[in-house]
Amino acid sequence: AKRVRIHHLRELKERGTPWPMLTSYDMYTAELFDEAGIPVLLVGDSAANNVFGYDTSLPVTVDELLPLVRAVSGATRRALVVGDLPFGSYQISPEQALTTAVRFMKEGRAHAVKLEGGQRFAPHVEALTGAGVPVMGHIGFTPQSEHSLGGYRVQGRGDAADELLADAVALERAGAFAVVLEMVPAEAAKRVTAELSIPTIGIGAGAACDAQVLVWQDMAGLRRGKGPRFVRRYANLADTLLTAASSYAEDVRNGRFPAPEHTFH
Ligand code: KIV
Ligand code: NA
Repeated sequence: AKRVRIHHLRELKERGTPWPMLTSYDMYTAELFDEAGIPVLLVGDSAANNVFGYDTSLPVTVDELLPLVRAVSGATRRALVVGDLPFGSYQISPEQALTTAVRFMKEGRAHAVKLEGGQRFAPHVEALTGAGVPVMGHIGFTPQSEHSLGGYRVQGRGDAADELLADAVALERAGAFAVVLEMVPAEAAKRVTAELSIPTIGIGAGAACDAQVLVWQDMAGLRRGKGPRFVRRYANLADTLLTAASSYAEDVRNGRFPAPEHTFH
């Protein structure tokens, strides 16, 4: 199996073939998603919410994410693994962004990194791409800015659609190889997708994007409760695991596990 490269993603855009991306934070999911043919895996800072149990993505640190990136990268044969730079690890300066990105590439064995922000982060993106680090951008709703954006809300409505496009163009010019569009109107995402020669990856951004991304626990129904509108659940892992753990507990309590075949003499 040959490793997916950024030029393959651009070829898919040129052919008009949409492709899937998922988050992954550990070895088993990385192996399975790789086998399922997911070409790009993102070790998202959404590990904050989906692994570490924080209520926002802001608290998660580089030191917390790096071991997850290394686990995912080590478990894939084909997928391109993107490490998500967490809040506070790149915003201060292009130099800080490069210092952090180098850690993701060396210690995390990432193949690329992602950071949030548009025009104002073009110098940061340039510092990375100039040093040989492929960068995925992320605009629209950017969770690391949730407190300044006033919570989870659709971005790029009305006149803001022009700003969204300007941000996307700035990222492409700075050398980004792809850009995530999160929670933007489908019409705005379609326009950005048509204007850019690099792929757009939508999450709550409609069907016109070149690619789609979901958090895997949302996709597989491990997270319970009413998820965001843009999620489709492809399994109900929460029920599956709850049933498995309950059956195991009952068998131990009733003396039905372990059985003779599980026992050494
Ligand atoms: O951290 C994350 O999971 C993300 C994706 C939703 C794009 O940034
Ligand atoms: Na993220």
